[in-house]
Amino acid sequence: MTATIAPARARHVAIIMDGNGRWAKRRHLPRVVGHQRGVEAVRKLVRATAALDLECLTLYAFSSENWKRPEDEVDDLMGLMRKFIRSDLPEFIEHGVRLHIIGDWRGLAPDIVAMLDDALRQTARGTRTLAVALNYGGQQEIARAASAAAAEGAITPEAIAAQLDTASLPPLDLLIRTSGEVRLSNFLLWQAAYAEMLFVDTLWPDFTPEHLAAALQDFATRERRYGGR
Ligand code: IPE
Ligand code: IPE
Ligand code: MG
Repeated sequence: MTATIAPARARHVAIIMDGNGRWAKRRHLPRVVGHQRGVEAVRKLVRATAALDLECLTLYAFSSENWKRPEDEVDDLMGLMRKFIRSDLPEFIEHGVRLHIIGDWRGLAPDIVAMLDDALRQTARGTRTLAVALNYGGQQEIARAASAAAAEGAITPEAIAAQLDTASLPPLDLLIRTSGEVRLSNFLLWQAAYAEMLFVDTLWPDFTPEHLAAALQDFATRERRYGGR
């Protein structure tokens, strides 16, 4: 009898969805079209998570630093967010997608906060998680978590982890960034400690469920050591 070793399965994948602007620029289209096509890519990916047997997908949608962009681009992004929640919430509910938000999302416009509150309530019974990082910064998250930990006692790694926005999610297995940039841009700094990393050249609007499936296959071949041997 031959023993078979099951390949490691990723439970939690996070993606830095980068390259919408360059996708549009290459086609001589306005940046907003790149962002619109980026939303399409998100929609297709969320639909595929069930077939890929993924427990949690975390997407970096808007960073704490993205406020530095021109006002009209920020407005476009916020408008797309409103549209996305409105159009896709029924599908999330129907397909058991539980929405989770990380970041300082209560600092967004009041109508978006209300929509998100409602979406969180309506999807609370879902079995697969879509975590969206909104107004998110990893350093800010760690600072908030450390303050909360200090208020309760000693500041230990475990106490900080328990206060992070991701405390209820499975440990991060794989972090992907699209568009060829090789940096974290303040995303999941704490959670990335022992996550596997994958940087791909594909621009975000071109990223398909097949790309994610390939990433999961790549992940399955990796040997994780966590400092041991
Ligand atoms: C990612 O695409 C979307 C957000 C950061 C909201 P970019 O807008 O950063 O696209 P590039 O990096 O300029 O190509
Ligand atoms: C990171 O991308 C933020 C999101 C994908 C939401 P950026 O395009 O903002 O990152 P930098 O500025 O290139 O580091
Ligand atoms: Mg970018």
